[in-house]
Amino acid sequence: MKKCEIIKLPKVNDPRGNLSFFESEKHIPFEIKRTFWIYDVPGGEVRGGHAYKEQEEFIVALSGSFDVLIDNGEHKVIYTLNRSYFGLYVPPLHWRQMINFSTNSVALICSSTQFDDNDYIRDYKDFLEVVKNANKRL
Ligand code: TYD
Repeated sequence: MKKCEIIKLPKVNDPRGNLSFFESEKHIPFEIKRTFWIYDVPGGEVRGGHAYKEQEEFIVALSGSFDVLIDNGEHKVIYTLNRSYFGLYVPPLHWRQMINFSTNSVALICSSTQFDDNDYIRDYKDFLEVVKNANKRL
């Protein structure tokens, strides 16, 4: 199974303001088919709380900070994103929840697929079952 990992992005330091970037299949391990962002999150709110069957994601805190809770069905890890030149790669079949959004934070998310509601696993028990079956096939 592919692993979740923090990816450090290029950072071009400049007294006029710093610049970072990433390119499809170069800095992140998939081709980007869709980009969305989460913003104006009221204090204490939770986003996500699902896994995907196929799609991969790359999550960057463009502004502010938040935590991403990752669960591969066996282990849970909390990643704090608080620098715009670090991102989190999330493979398929990882339950992910986003919490602790700071005021004015912006989460940028690049996905390997176009939006497809059928790719979502929204029930945690179903998720554990799918992971179990996927591990059996390995
Ligand atoms: P969803 O991914 O379910 O967000 P969360 O897990 O944080 O609740 O998306 C919320 C709604 O937005 C859902 O009705 C689907 C819609 N949506 C799109 O239409 N396109 C997209 O690319 C995304 C990410 C969501």
